[in-house]
Formats: sequence, structure tokens, C-alpha cells
Amino acid sequence: MMGVPVGVGPKWGATSQRSTSGSLSPSTLVPATRTLAFTMSQFSYNELSSATGGFSKLNLLGQGGFGYVYKGLLTNGQEVAVKSLKSGSKQGEREFQAEVEIISRVHHRHLVSLVGYCVADSQRVLVYEYVPNKTLNFHLHGLGCPAMKWETRIRIALGSAKGLAYLHEDCDPRIIHRDIKSSNILLDDNFDAKVADFGLAKLVSGDDTHISTRVMGTFGYLAPEYASSGKLTEKSDVFSFGVMLLELLTGKKPIDSTNDCMDDSLVEWAGPLLAKALEDRNYNELVDPRLEGNYDLNQMARMVSTTAASIRHSAKRRPKMSQIVRALEGDMSLDAINDLLKPQRVGSTLSVNQIPDSPNSIVDDTRAYNDDMRKFIEKVKSSSQEHERT
Ligand SMILES: Nc1ncnc2c1ncn2[C@@H]1O[C@H](COP(=O)(O)OP(=O)(O)OP(=O)(O)O)[C@@H](O)[C@H]1O
Ligand SMILES: [Mg+2]
Repeated sequence: MMGVPVGVGPKWGATSQRSTSGSLSPSTLVPATRTLAFTMSQFSYNELSSATGGFSKLNLLGQGGFGYVYKGLLTNGQEVAVKSLKSGSKQGEREFQAEVEIISRVHHRHLVSLVGYCVADSQRVLVYEYVPNKTLNFHLHGLGCPAMKWETRIRIALGSAKGLAYLHEDCDPRIIHRDIKSSNILLDDNFDAKVADFGLAKLVSGDDTHISTRVMGTFGYLAPEYASSGKLTEKSDVFSFGVMLLELLTGKKPIDSTNDCMDDSLVEWAGPLLAKALEDRNYNELVDPRLEGNYDLNQMARMVSTTAASIRHSAKRRPKMSQIVRALEGDMSLDAINDLLKPQRVGSTLSVNQIPDSPNSIVDDTRAYNDDMRKFIEKVKSSSQEHERT
């Protein structure tokens, strides 16, 4: 039996205002509660158990920080991804409800939709649309995967930028993802990107400029200000997105998993190469050798400038996601993108830095990033030792 729609009643009875593209424009955004009535199903545990062959290992798609993900088939023939949250995981009732509420607000072709959920005793299960072609992480770093073509990389960068721009700028309240990384970018058969995993997202409303919260997200993608102070803004997502762009450009992982000392962080490694490429437009050292030089030079110039701007140390100086979309789409001149790398005027005076940026400041930025992250690692290590002692 299919799940029962939740929340049906007078309060929920407004007409759906979803546009044909599946996205909501700012003026037509409706409260989450209304959207819920049209898209969400509540499933019983038994329904999900039969859909996944009893949560069989054979249907296991993967495992993340919060639990296991299984492929499932609903009785109406719809393929789904069923995420069973670890019992005893820190993701409690409130977080669970928050996630359900957040995902039910968003409908966009570049965001994974939530089909429904299940609450049964201590079990918490989320049911997502099934996205068939694995993750960006798999295609970039998976053993035996053919090299991704440049056009595919640009397509994925642009799609995920659009999904994120929607979360940041078109949703009310705005949504910060908090865990942008290549394993949270799912791909369909055309390599269209869908941003997944809003489990760590929190709503930011009204005038709040940031939310301070326990530092989460995934190491290697963490924005320096978020790691050092827990200060979270949309610009922390922009930094993580910039690291993902670096991954697409270079084919390298953000951090070598065998190294927890930040000796080889991708951001620091790439700093001098980005600076050089911005100056002489020679991309050979920076770019993934597996591309064998097969890329469009114009697009590469845009990608390099956009990446450098996104990983600025100063959050304020990173572009907004909608600017990144325009930059990647070619809707913004290269000069305008490079202007993002220069100090911004506040009123009639130049902000903070009076000296126009030189490419070296990008190198300084990436060094400062590494210093912050080293401090962060020390803090985490000493607090876990503290924890072990008590
Ligand atoms: N909607 C989906 N459609 C198809 N496969 C999915 C879907 N959601 C997740 N998966 C698969 O399940 C795997 C595990 O996902 P999960 O989100 O639990 O872990 P993760 O992204 O690696 O880490 P994290 O817990 O930090 O998000 C993914 O790598 C992906 O292969
Ligand atoms: Mg995930």
C-alpha cells in the first residue's frame, strides 16, 4: 500500500504553486506546510521493509554519517532511496522533523526531493527520489571510472550551483546546506546534478546574518570561519562549493584521507597554481591531467576565476551563489568575475584592504586557511582527549 499523504485539511488545501520547471519563484513560495500536503507521504515501517527486501544488504546503496541508504521499490512502481537513520544517532526527533520540514519546502530540478518518511518507535527513515547514476565523488575518484569530460564537469558545477543558489536566495527562510561535498552531489543518467542531504541544513530566517552552531559538515570542505568560530552563513556553503570546484578542476580529493595534518590540503596546494593561472592563463599544472588538455579555454578561465573567488579567506569577499551561476553560465564577463577577486568598495571608501589584490593574496589566503584548519584540528584533538579523560 502506498503511503498516506500527511497534513491534509483546510490549512493545507491551497493550490500548488509549483512552476512547470519544478521550482518555486520567490513570489510564489508557499509555506512548507502547504507543499507538504502535495508531496509527502508517511510510510509504515513494514511498507519500507517490503520496498527494500527487508533492508537487505543486496539493496544497500551506501553508508553515510547518519545511517544506511537502500534502494527500494514502492508498490506504485516508483524507485526510491531509503535512508534508515542509525538508532542512537545524534539526529534525534527534532533534527529529524527539521530535515523533513526543510526538504519538503524545496522543489527544484537540481535538488533531490523527499518522497516521504517513516517514524516508528525509535526508527526514523527518510524516503528520497532515487537518483540513478551515483555521486560526483564516485565519478571523480572511483577506481576504474573513466575520466569525466570537461563538458560534464561544467554541467555538474552549473547544476549544483543552481540548486544551491535556490536554497540560499529563492527560499524564504533562506536555507544553508552545511554539507556541500562531492558525495552529496547525486547524478542522473544525463549527468545532471542533484544536491542531496539536507540533514545538516538549518533554517536561517529574517535578519539573522549567521547561526552559530556546532561545527559540522565534512572536513576538507569546511570554511575557515566556520571551523574556527562556528559562524555559519551562506558564504560557508560558497567556500565548500569552491572546494568542490577545485575537485572538478584538478581531479584531486580535498584532503588526503591518510593524512590528518593538513600537509597536503587541496586548497593550499592549489593556491599558488590558481594565482599563476590567473596571471598567465596557463592551466597545465592546475588542471586534472586526465583531461589531457581537452577543455575550452574560455570556460576554463571562468572556472578558475570563479573557484579562486569562492575560496577567499574572507567570507564577505566570496561571491553569492547566483553570481557563481552567472559566471559559470557565461552571463558575466571575465573582467566582472575577476572584479570579484578585488577589494569591494563600501560606500565611497575601499573596505579593509586599500591595496588592490595581487594574485599573491590568493596564496596568502590559502596559507591562512591552512593555519586556521591546523588550529581547528588541534582543538578537536584536545577536546576529544579531554572527553576520553572524563
Ligand atoms: N537519493 C538517492 N538516490 C540514489 N542513491 C543515493 C541517494 N541518496 C544517497 N544515495 C547513495 O547512498 C550513499 C550514502 O549516502 P549518505 O548521504 O548516507 O552518505 P554520504 O553522502 O557519503 O555522507 P554524509 O552522511 O556525510 O552525507 C551515497 O554515496 C549514494 O551513493
Ligand atoms: Mg550524503
